[in-house]
Amino acid sequence: MSNNKELLWQSRFSEPFDRDALRFSSSVHVDKALFREDIQGSAAHVAMLAEEGIIGKDEAEQIISGLQEIETELESGKLVPHWEDEDIHTVIENRLKEKIGAVAGKIHSGRSRNDQVATDTRLYLKRQISALGEALRTLQQTLVSKAETYRETIIFGYTHLQRAQPISAGHYYLAYFNMFARDRQRLEDLRKRVNISPLGAAAFAGSTLPLNPSRSAEILDFEGVFSNSIDAVSDRDIIIEFISACSIVMMHLSRFAEDLILWSSYEFGYLEISDAFATGSSLMPQKKNADIAELVRGKTGRVYGSLITMLTIMKGLPLSYNRDMQEDKPPLFDSARTTIESVRIFSKLLEHTSLREERLARLTAEDLSLATEIAEYLVRKQMPFRDAHRVTGRIVTHSISTGTSLPNIPIDEYRSYSELFERDIYDSLRPEASIRAKKTHGSCSFRSVEEQLVEARKQL
Ligand code: ARG
Repeated sequence: MSNNKELLWQSRFSEPFDRDALRFSSSVHVDKALFREDIQGSAAHVAMLAEEGIIGKDEAEQIISGLQEIETELESGKLVPHWEDEDIHTVIENRLKEKIGAVAGKIHSGRSRNDQVATDTRLYLKRQISALGEALRTLQQTLVSKAETYRETIIFGYTHLQRAQPISAGHYYLAYFNMFARDRQRLEDLRKRVNISPLGAAAFAGSTLPLNPSRSAEILDFEGVFSNSIDAVSDRDIIIEFISACSIVMMHLSRFAEDLILWSSYEFGYLEISDAFATGSSLMPQKKNADIAELVRGKTGRVYGSLITMLTIMKGLPLSYNRDMQEDKPPLFDSARTTIESVRIFSKLLEHTSLREERLARLTAEDLSLATEIAEYLVRKQMPFRDAHRVTGRIVTHSISTGTSLPNIPIDEYRSYSELFERDIYDSLRPEASIRAKKTHGSCSFRSVEEQLVEARKQL
């Protein structure tokens, strides 16, 4: 550990930085998470400097092997970043100086911590985008297998949380598949904007040294290089976009969580969460709670909070870099971790759920959610839909007031509402017939679900 906690900017000052001020401004406890990206970025910068003849090849080799050792030291915990070093960039540079002496200082030729930290952030984002995309893909696989298992299972579809129409459970799971597919598209679209290297923008105005930003970008596997050095160090849009994409993922998970919580309740009783993924109550022995789903729903609030944090930090900042921007890391890291962990655990939770098929079959068979079938039956017999709706409404009222389910109302009773009713009305009053009869593209019919499954498997 370094004893001479030299800060990178102190040469023009006659007094040492106040310890409380340093403690307040130090970001080591947070940005130490970026040590791999920081070392990767520095190694690329130094390799470029040597290729351009700005520093010696042997010097570059010395620096790069020093950096590699430091990476190992940080990984193993042999080097513990200390807050007095101000930030992870300083931790690494100070340690490098201890190892190889003054030549370590050449690492910063033509570079500022402003383009350095922007580079680190983009490297970090690229990894998080991949990790989140991968987690989402796994979740989609789980959804496809649920949709396959339950493609013939009939559940209630809801609007306004009122039973609306019977649907194939496969159709329900594939709705979520589509939502997470869009989430993955959003991330891939964002990746294009993240994949631009800011390295070589220096403090914000570029450098008088003959840097080759395209070369360092290439070494770091960026697809392109900044076109304006002010924007390169000042842009945090990518963080806002990433957290915004995370927020949408969490919103999707939270809606899904809500369904699982409701459906696993005694009142709904549609779904069973296996004991390995349920929790009990310390007081009420009968309780079986869906805590994992609730936590995911709750963590959604944290990610939204981070989005607002970032938007607020950036609002009104004059160009170019301002120290306010250091506050970008806690919300970024927290959103990435929270979202990735939530998606991963949600896939597992989903695997540990099963639909209570017998109960669902019983409930859907006799439900008023078949009323739309009656209206469409009359429409097929040429009654205008508005009239059909009115007639069916009266039949529903009858069903409720007499406590007779729609399939159990006698044909004479149906005919008293409209002469168009014939015995075949009862064929329409079976939920599976209703689902099978859906003709439109992307509908809940079993055939449509099969088609969607083919598409879904292709996408994965
Ligand atoms: N810790 C700083 C950050 O994350 C690094 C950049 C510091 N630049 C500066 N001009 N003080 O933003």
